[in-house]
Amino acid sequence: MIEFLIPFFWLVLFILVLSIIWRNNARKYISSGTVASAYDAWTQDKLLERLWGEHIHLGFYSSGKNNIDFREAKVQFVHELVKWSGLNKLPKGSRVLDVGCGIGGSSRILAKYYGFNVTGITISPAQVKRARELTPQGLNCNFQVMDALNLRFEDGSFDAIWSVEAGAHMNDKKKFADEMLRTLRPGGYLALADWNSRDFREYPPSFVEKLVIKQLLEQWVHPHFTSINEFDNILRNNKNSAGQVISENWNFYTNPSWYDSIIEGIRRPLTILNLGPSALVKSVREIPTILLMNWAFRKGLMEFGVYKCRG
Ligand SMILES: C[S@@+](CC[C@H](N)C(=O)[O-])C[C@H]1O[C@@H](n2cnc3c(N)ncnc32)[C@H](O)[C@@H]1O
Repeated sequence: MIEFLIPFFWLVLFILVLSIIWRNNARKYISSGTVASAYDAWTQDKLLERLWGEHIHLGFYSSGKNNIDFREAKVQFVHELVKWSGLNKLPKGSRVLDVGCGIGGSSRILAKYYGFNVTGITISPAQVKRARELTPQGLNCNFQVMDALNLRFEDGSFDAIWSVEAGAHMNDKKKFADEMLRTLRPGGYLALADWNSRDFREYPPSFVEKLVIKQLLEQWVHPHFTSINEFDNILRNNKNSAGQVISENWNFYTNPSWYDSIIEGIRRPLTILNLGPSALVKSVREIPTILLMNWAFRKGLMEFGVYKCRG
């Protein structure tokens, strides 16, 4: 009997040690500085870029199934959001601000395919450096280190504001909206996508859901999530928005990304293995968070919100 229990004991111990390492190495939000250092580290170790390509956001799967490549789905996402938000109605040369631009994946598409004059800003200096390296000369696309909560641009400087999966890292969602809408010219277009929680005022989370949300916040430097309704209201009540805000939940189209983001490592194993053993450990370390995200988005505890409005 004891012999039978020994492997079980080791397995439990192994899982326990892994969980402690996972918890102790969480990336808790303290300030925008912690977001900057997390993205600096994610950029410098090259793991995220090797695995997910130049877009740090979910993909768009029109059928709600994993029927296209993860990287293709990310590019598709950009085109779908452009179409849905009406940005494609803007003429070439329009000035677009990409708020929380990562390493510039969306910015380059907006400049290359739509002919826009794009400025991308991110809180991470390493991302700006990498975004510049990845941008071919002659493309109308420039990048700057800047805090989205304190944009150093004049009022009404842009014909469109674009922001994908950045707001969840910011503690003051109202200031985030204020700054975007202040720098948008009257009549300009706002296109935004973000991770949201279910509306907890209407449907309070259970004990288990609270534990899950705590992990989702603490593992990937998120201060707190708002619901789609709450952020829709923030935009609607802003003095610089034309008032008509349209928001939708795109969980159906984006959920396949979660499994795909794990499968990507299996599909292209050398992209990780070539970076050495520590990269393998680091990528395995993210799997529990990705699985929790997948669970939360599938159960509707988390929602993928998209928003459009005019300045
Ligand atoms: C999940 S990534 C998305 C990157 C990019 N939008 C994309 O789709 O590839 C989140 C981005 O938001 C940026 N970010 C977070 N908080 C920020 C802040 N306060 N000011 C500027 N950028 C911020 C991060 O530096 C990162 O580039």
